[in-house]
Amino acid sequence: MKDAVRAGFERTPLIEGEEIISRLGWRYAVKGFDPDRRVSERDWKLLEQAAILAPSSYGLQPFRIIVISDRDMKERLAPACYNQPQVRDCSHLVFFAARKEFTEQHIKEFLELTMEVRGTPAEDLSGLAEALENTRANLEKNGLTKAWAQRQTYISLGFLLETAALLGVDACPMEGFVPEQVDKILGLEEYTATVMCALGYRTGSDWLAPLKKVRFPADTIVTRI
Ligand SMILES: Cc1cc2nc3c(=O)[nH]c(=O)nc-3n(C[C@H](O)[C@H](O)[C@H](O)COP(=O)(O)O)c2cc1C
Repeated sequence: MKDAVRAGFERTPLIEGEEIISRLGWRYAVKGFDPDRRVSERDWKLLEQAAILAPSSYGLQPFRIIVISDRDMKERLAPACYNQPQVRDCSHLVFFAARKEFTEQHIKEFLELTMEVRGTPAEDLSGLAEALENTRANLEKNGLTKAWAQRQTYISLGFLLETAALLGVDACPMEGFVPEQVDKILGLEEYTATVMCALGYRTGSDWLAPLKKVRFPADTIVTRI
């Protein structure tokens, strides 16, 4: 992944604002994927990068992203996903799996990575280390660790969905699966499948494609103060 550049970033939008909205209006939760069309390697790499660039609590990324393009594996997973056709027909199926436990080891690895990437001395991170440990202990004490980790997965999903729309790749986010079954098939132990996303290209015959988007009016959703 290219280093993210913050200072001196060119602020001219890559595409016009209206174009972004029009792309987001183009996307819909695709039911009918063309089983013969694959997302290119290049686009796939960009999509993975977008999902990884999503923010997370403290930047801890308490989840894994499992990408399945193997046909046999999709076939095995389909019954655990209520046989939703997207699972078999998409180009790439992605599971976002949340960490079940927030361990001291995770904190250690995160601090080590921060020191390595930013060249920060350990002593400068002692405040962060303490905050992380407090957060960890609080989440554990209140039995909230899994829910906390699961929330992070949806942010990454959002980045993936938006980037897919901007690249002209179709997608369908899905919670319609049995986590215990999916975890077993994927051999997940420390993680649990939380949400999935099928990606690929819509067929011309998907009945949903021509339907208008249903959204409550902005004023009923947004409160401006
Ligand atoms: C968390 C989540 C879970 C969803 N689960 C499913 C699913 O299991 N199967 C499916 O076909 N669509 C699923 N959807 C798609 C929604 O039905 C769809 O996003 C919604 O109807 C709005 O339509 P649009 O995305 O086409 O604008 C899910 C969407 C989200 C965000």
